[in-house]
Amino acid sequence: MGVVGAGGFGLYALQHFTQIPGVTLAGMAGTHREAAFAVAQRFGIPDIEDIDTLVGRPDVDLIYIATPPFLHHEQAMKALRAGKHVICEKPLAMTLAQADEMIALAKQKHVALIANLMQRYNPLYEIIRELIESKVLGEFLHGYFENYASDEGLGPQHWFWDRTKSGGIFIEHGVHFFDMFAGWLGQGEAVSAQRTIRPGTNLEEQVNCTVRYRDGMLVNFYHGFTQPNRMDRQEFRLLFELGDVTLEEWVPIRARVHAAVDERRTQKLMNLFQRARLDIAQVYGGRTREVFSRHKTSDIYQLADLHWGDEVEKMHRYGELLRSVMRDQVRWIYDRTHERKLTEKNGRDSLALAVQATDLADGKEAAPLATAEAA
Ligand SMILES: NC(=O)c1ccc[n+]([C@@H]2O[C@H](COP(=O)([O-])OP(=O)(O)OC[C@H]3O[C@@H](n4cnc5c(N)ncnc54)[C@H](O)[C@@H]3O)[C@@H](O)[C@H]2O)c1
Repeated sequence: MGVVGAGGFGLYALQHFTQIPGVTLAGMAGTHREAAFAVAQRFGIPDIEDIDTLVGRPDVDLIYIATPPFLHHEQAMKALRAGKHVICEKPLAMTLAQADEMIALAKQKHVALIANLMQRYNPLYEIIRELIESKVLGEFLHGYFENYASDEGLGPQHWFWDRTKSGGIFIEHGVHFFDMFAGWLGQGEAVSAQRTIRPGTNLEEQVNCTVRYRDGMLVNFYHGFTQPNRMDRQEFRLLFELGDVTLEEWVPIRARVHAAVDERRTQKLMNLFQRARLDIAQVYGGRTREVFSRHKTSDIYQLADLHWGDEVEKMHRYGELLRSVMRDQVRWIYDRTHERKLTEKNGRDSLALAVQATDLADGKEAAPLATAEAA
């Protein structure tokens, strides 16, 4: 593989991507900044080339793009025209028109084009998907994601704050979470969105939106880049008829379940959240087993609290997800019958929702959502 623009995240990602058998970093293109030279040293790359040379190399099959978002379209198009597979940092592009053009070319060239939405490979992503589908805690009713993110490394001149370069917070960052919830609930539609400008500046520092999913279910997404590094923290909450689940960290690693369950549901929960610590807060018998909500009766044996994932090291899990992205795509490159977890559709549909939320927050009328299938 070759990499375009290895900065803060690039080196971290590359060290995981290159652990996959068959993957070697063969060359780099970039702006010759100090960080890029550090990456070159780490991989013994003799020099930094320009992108046209890199994508033209016959010994390069795949290009990893880790530049700021406004460059993704132009650089991915160069790689695709040269017939290379592309793993692009999120977001896939800045606009849907760009994303569609890129996907059309990737299809024509029979190559992969994915945005690095690595959350799909998180074991907690699968556990929650099963929890929702199996209805162990009844119907899913409501959710939120609260992101109290650090801006300590983001000086006022950083490209992150320049919406012509980053696309704004929904597009640059929100796509990870739009993609996860789409995997859990199907594609949603933004129904309201707001943004807050840091007083005395023109920097967008907080955004919020509500997304409606099937059966009218509402999920709220908040992102604020306002915290010192050591206070960076996130929480997902998913509410069901018979309990709720809280996930901690933006790459979720820990889960807490609070549930009113009978014996059968307790067993199913323990199967889903394997090796969780189970605390019993209350036990019911006889007529006190019967509870009533949403005009329905349920049979409840106990109030259960599960703790899962206390032993997981966050950065190790993050690295594991990156290895999984590359392993899955490489398998597909060699065997086109392999079904990938992350496809072109994830990059496009997460961007579609982010663009919609951005438009609503800007007070524009948001275009109706066109998903990858519709396009
Ligand atoms: N998937 C994830 O979890 C994750 C995490 C962090 C960042 N990211 C994404 O990674 C991308 C890069 O973010 P970062 O934090 O590493 O940014 P960064 O500013 O640290 O690095 C960007 C790199 O691109 C290079 N660059 C700039 N202009 C270029 C050009 N014209 N041609 C070639 N290289 C150029 C810079 O020199 C720098 O090395 C963004 O899209 C960001 O959203 C993804």
